[in-house]
Amino acid sequence: MNDENRHMLVVSNRLPAAVDQDSDGNWKVFPSSGGLVTAMAPVMRRNGGTWIGWPGCPKDAPAEELLREHSEQERFTLKPVPVSEDEVAKYYRGFSNQTIWPLFHDLLGYCEFDADQWETYCEVNRRFAEVTAEAIQGSSPVWVHDYQLLLVGRYLRELGVQNDIDFFLHIPFPSSDLIRRLPWRREIMYALMDYDHIGFQTRHDYRNFMQSVRMFVEDTRVHSKRNHSFVLHNERTIELGIYPISIDFKEFDSGARSQEVADSAWYFRENLRSDKLVLGLDRLDYTKGIPERFLAFERALEKYPELRGHLALIQVVVPSRVTVPQYQGLKEQLDQLAGRINGRFSTDRWIPIHYMFRHLNRNQLLGYYKASEIALITPLRDGMNLVAKEYCAASIENNGVLILSEFAGAADQLAQGALMVNPYDLERAADAIFAAYIMDDEEKTRRMKALRSEVRRNDVHKWLRQFMEKETRRHRPSQT
Ligand code: G6P
Repeated sequence: MNDENRHMLVVSNRLPAAVDQDSDGNWKVFPSSGGLVTAMAPVMRRNGGTWIGWPGCPKDAPAEELLREHSEQERFTLKPVPVSEDEVAKYYRGFSNQTIWPLFHDLLGYCEFDADQWETYCEVNRRFAEVTAEAIQGSSPVWVHDYQLLLVGRYLRELGVQNDIDFFLHIPFPSSDLIRRLPWRREIMYALMDYDHIGFQTRHDYRNFMQSVRMFVEDTRVHSKRNHSFVLHNERTIELGIYPISIDFKEFDSGARSQEVADSAWYFRENLRSDKLVLGLDRLDYTKGIPERFLAFERALEKYPELRGHLALIQVVVPSRVTVPQYQGLKEQLDQLAGRINGRFSTDRWIPIHYMFRHLNRNQLLGYYKASEIALITPLRDGMNLVAKEYCAASIENNGVLILSEFAGAADQLAQGALMVNPYDLERAADAIFAAYIMDDEEKTRRMKALRSEVRRNDVHKWLRQFMEKETRRHRPSQT
């Protein structure tokens, strides 16, 4: 997207602010932060922009009015897409989170295939497109985000929109063998051909996508030129690129240097009474490999008795999608596993797993990063995993050790400094925990310096610039 005075439209399932009731029952706007909004907000303030999304509240809440006031403070517009309760059940909990989410994370056993949910997914995607089409000003480019909105480009074209429409997939794209199982695979693959530019997190996702294009979309030609790939379909050219998303390194680095964070790190250490801490921090999700992590930690305690009484696992699970049945089941499983392992190994003065199901504020989050000698980040599959990058940015003394799953998108950038593990391989994961525990200072520093330098160089601002550069190139006069 050309950064010169072009009004920009961002479309994502959730707005960067939720409308909810406070403790007195009054409707209010609760802004949310995160890499995407940190990177986008300054550009949108400068050029003018509209962010379109679901405000997370019932249809009859005064979202439009509250968000109008909030937009004036933010200096870009937040435009709500109303979604009814029945639609939330079928579009969000249903098709998005019980079909696409598990399928795209290679977890076919968690998938439901329900025609009614698919219909609602189409209807809600169409509504997102209608609200977006109304907000378009002149040649504004449109940037659609993530798996909840795969079809928005298609519906915008049906509404006659000719503007550039970009798409970024934050989660993995699975192999064509998995896409084959989807009854609506053709509809989805053809709809993706209506975008002008599609971004993926990793080369693996990009390759999987190309395989599905070849398998399910007729009349396509693929053309690669240096670092760019193009799919030619129906006289249209779709540009494909790989853009690993990142974090605002400086924000985490400077936050971790504050006195408040030092205080909260001290407080955690005092209370947890263990020589060393290993941290797990995830949204509640079966893709994150949390039960496997508990088992790997248990195996480490069995295999290396010298860890007992000296290394504790702090697992923070942030509540998420708790109305989806599989997420409730996972919560119960974690409660039981933590209880069983603690019952087995706890002593009068030491508890092996400190498991918390709660939200954290920024100082608490940074406090946990700072207090923990080791981070154990072992998803079964993950689009990127920003916790891994945040832990490195917060490790300002270059002394943290990162243990990372080879199935996180972040592995492509962080494998050189991290201890890499296969989360299904409990034996090796246990060995990695022990190796991190006994690692000498010189090796820790060398590894963490490499990790921090990688995250510093490739931050979220660079991610945004690189995605936008493609757009700028398309608009150069020589190209038209
Ligand atoms: C992942 C997805 C996002 C989603 C987030 C939180 O990071 O890629 O699109 O917004 O999870 O999930 P939720 O269902 O609460 O929006």
